[in-house]
Amino acid sequence: MAGAAAAGLRSLLCALLAFGALTPAAGRTLAFVNLVYRHGDRSPIVAYPTDPNTEKDWPQGFGQLTQILLFPLKNCSRYTKLVEETENTDEYKKTLMENKDFLDMLSKATGVPREQLSLEYAWSIYDTLFCEQLHHKTMPAWVTPSVMEHLRMLKEFHLQAIFGMYKQEEKSQLQGGLLVKQILQNIEQSLKVTPTLSPKLIMYSAHDTTIVALQMALNIYSQAPPYASCHMVELYKEDNGTFTVEMYYKNESSSAPYPLALPACSQSCPLDRFIEIVKGVIPDDWDKECGHTSNHFKIDLLLGLAGSFCLLVLIFLAVWQYCCNWSQHEGYQKVSSGIEGGKKMALM
Ligand SMILES: *[C@@H]1O[C@H](CO)[C@@H](O)[C@H](O)[C@H]1NC(C)=O
Repeated sequence: MAGAAAAGLRSLLCALLAFGALTPAAGRTLAFVNLVYRHGDRSPIVAYPTDPNTEKDWPQGFGQLTQILLFPLKNCSRYTKLVEETENTDEYKKTLMENKDFLDMLSKATGVPREQLSLEYAWSIYDTLFCEQLHHKTMPAWVTPSVMEHLRMLKEFHLQAIFGMYKQEEKSQLQGGLLVKQILQNIEQSLKVTPTLSPKLIMYSAHDTTIVALQMALNIYSQAPPYASCHMVELYKEDNGTFTVEMYYKNESSSAPYPLALPACSQSCPLDRFIEIVKGVIPDDWDKECGHTSNHFKIDLLLGLAGSFCLLVLIFLAVWQYCCNWSQHEGYQKVSSGIEGGKKMALM
């Protein structure tokens, strides 16, 4: 709470400073925009074992989306370790205990063996039920509104566990921080290039978890993004020539985009300040931070050694070939090697 109060005070100070520093907003221009949005309505990705609906009940089949930009990025050892550690925290274990009966019920109802029914699996069941419900498919009697709400809460808990909850900043460095880094690079690039030549807008079509990872890294996550939610990062050029960053989040059809502010800055945040605040979640070297360096080093070393070995074999074969030919055609070789030698001498 003290942290929140301090952050609140900092934002107030920031707001006052920004207010004092900026000339009236009349002549400011929108210089560049990054958008990250979630795809729209889709079919489920899988059916659970007792699902009355199968893939053939969906005209376009299951899924129908690519896995580009799908978070969490899984090929990161350090991140896997952090999630394991999260699952060992008291908070996590307590929630699992509290939901034991519900998960037992879910396992029976869906036919998913209890030992396989992780929170991630429960989320996938929720996702399937959600799509089916939206498309008025056959719903089994056990899928009541309260079961759906319970599943939604477990999904939120799972999202917290994989992107936040424990060592959030370090998780962010390995996940959403990569996207923050890319967005800042896009902004920096847009400042370097002649304005008329540079793109004005870069748009990432992504998944709910991409937005979650991004917002967790920025420390402004509230709840799982509905279909087609869009996180906007806008760069403004102020009248006095300075740059500010503003973020908006369009997640409800019926309301205007919500202004989002970093906890330690005003909604219109000076670019330098923005960069300073998010610095902690930007990975320098993702592979290294994931703990892959030594593996890569080993692989490189092995490949290097294998390469050298092949080269040695080739040299040996070439020399052997040369010697054999020489002994077979000694007469010709003597003459030609003399010419060769002469050429080499001349070249040297
Ligand atoms: C939309 O985002 C705002 C701001 O983060 C949040 O307060 C609100 O609950 C969200 N609504 C939905 C439907 O996700």
